[in-house]
Amino acid sequence: MKVAVVGTGYVGLPTGVVLADLGHDVVCIDRDEAKLERIHRGESPIYEPGLEEVLHKVLKTGRFRTRASIAEGVKGAEIVFIAVGTPQGPDGHPDLSQVIGAAEEIGRCVTAPVIVVNKSTVPIGSGDLVERTILQQGANPEFVDVVSNPEFLREGSAIKDSYNPDRIVIGAKRKEAAEKLAALYKGMDCPVFVTDVHSSEVIKYASNSFLATKISFINAVSRMCELCDADVAAVAEGMGLDRRIGREFLKAGLGWGGSCFPKDVTALIAQSKDLGYDFSILRASSQVNDDQVRHFMSRGEKLLGGLKGKTVALLGLSFKPNTDDIRDAKSLEIIRLLLEKGASVRAHDPVAISAAEAVFPDVSFCHDPYETASGADALILVTEWGEYAALDLKRLASGMRQAVLLDGRRLFDPRSAEQAGFTYVRVGSKGPPEQTE
Ligand code: UDX
Repeated sequence: MKVAVVGTGYVGLPTGVVLADLGHDVVCIDRDEAKLERIHRGESPIYEPGLEEVLHKVLKTGRFRTRASIAEGVKGAEIVFIAVGTPQGPDGHPDLSQVIGAAEEIGRCVTAPVIVVNKSTVPIGSGDLVERTILQQGANPEFVDVVSNPEFLREGSAIKDSYNPDRIVIGAKRKEAAEKLAALYKGMDCPVFVTDVHSSEVIKYASNSFLATKISFINAVSRMCELCDADVAAVAEGMGLDRRIGREFLKAGLGWGGSCFPKDVTALIAQSKDLGYDFSILRASSQVNDDQVRHFMSRGEKLLGGLKGKTVALLGLSFKPNTDDIRDAKSLEIIRLLLEKGASVRAHDPVAISAAEAVFPDVSFCHDPYETASGADALILVTEWGEYAALDLKRLASGMRQAVLLDGRRLFDPRSAEQAGFTYVRVGSKGPPEQTE
């Protein structure tokens, strides 16, 4: 099928290359020509494992092209995906200006039947809005189907997730449109769930909010475990063995960040409020998440006998491993808090340093974890990158002024950390006695 994808971000580009690899003719559209040039050269503009490999493959087939204008890119397309950004607006609602802008341009180009697909996470009712916007441009209503097909891929495993989704959700008014979109995914081994447009839009928000709440739940349990000397990982394991609960997304840590969970939880609370329902469980989930870093850092602060004048080193800046994305990353919250309290900050990340450098001119960024820890009073594990698990803890500890390790993601083994000379504190376990000033 002939497909156009508007937007080459964390969702649009993986979607485009994977559809091309499935055998479709794909045009990815973005007005950022420098970005398109990089894509054309086979360079991914984002760090996403496996993306460049598929990009190289599909560029060679000739089935994957890029265009800088929607008018050019959607010519002849049977299906047009809108995969542009929907950042959070000041009132908690997503800012839909990019979606509306894309819909207006698409509307001006409709000369034959086309299915326009909302792939970005958009508020309930956005399908209607996109349809209205397209028709206002004079498009023939007989030619236009607006369908919701939310994306569930995770950053850091976007390519793997795109080839192996748990499900494909399609929300459509007409059965024929749903069937045509389902045919695009032919060959994928997963259920295709077809429903109405509003339900599909709610599924995306409800899924992300549910997962975020599952994490907040285990983080609340972690707070209790710290107080009663239980171990949150053991609790999560014992809970997760119940198939009704499941083991995934029960990893206690510093809380959820990234470009989706914080924005989507806030948006669902706001949309629900507009509809006249107070989604209090989500407000609580958000509150637990907001408290998690503050609480963990106060444990560290007490252990160090204050933060003023101390040097604190961070391992990890991205909001999760295997991505360079620092949007709503816990590292940002931690750095702000440390700087406010008068500490000096050093930080390392395998791929996200350049993104963080632009935000924090006062932080020393190092390209080596041992150099980062050197001379510091505490080391905080913020993002559980695989390579950090292999660090030589003795070497890390020996270079530090005070060997304190605050493990925000429970990456290290407490015995190994203590044997290496660290005073070790982790989320969800009782820590060593606090220092008295
Ligand atoms: C999420 C959804 O999982 C995905 O389906 C949707 O399309 C986009 O939003 P993403 O934000 O890329 O994906 O990452 P995810 O792996 O879900 O992690 C989100 C946050 O939760 C991260 O900050 C991560 O560190 C945290 N997390 C995740 C935990 O703290 N514990 C867990 O057990 C799982």
